[in-house]
Amino acid sequence: MSHDLFEAARGAMAFAHAPYSKFPVGAAIRAEDGKVYTGANIENLSFPQGWCAEPTAISAMIMGGAKKIVEMAVIAEKLALCPPCGGCRQKISEFASKGTKIYLCDETGVKKTMTMDELLPFSFETELG
Ligand code: THU
Repeated sequence: MSHDLFEAARGAMAFAHAPYSKFPVGAAIRAEDGKVYTGANIENLSFPQGWCAEPTAISAMIMGGAKKIVEMAVIAEKLALCPPCGGCRQKISEFASKGTKIYLCDETGVKKTMTMDELLPFSFETELG
């Protein structure tokens, strides 16, 4: 992975709106158009209404006109490795392939590389998609 994806995820983390958990998370996607799309977690006073960094980045990618995640980086300020939560794994998988690489980062760089299939094995699949 080139360093720019990590830098983008770290930069995105600075935009987190996480006044309740105080747990900023950043995500960056390199899409099939070669562009990098970023996101941060956005919490809400009505706690269940907040959402994670990964869907923010996915939204940016979709609204940018891209559809395919080529690679993705995730970083959290307060965790050496921030594995995407279960719901996020499902959301990422909608736009990824089994071999898509997800980089789990700390503030210095990539600490662990996992494939989509490793993150979400035995995933929900139907003839619809
Ligand atoms: N969070 C993410 O942004 N991504 C994840 O994969 C795990 C959790 C956020 C949600 C919430 O704003 C904060 O981290 C604490 O759970």
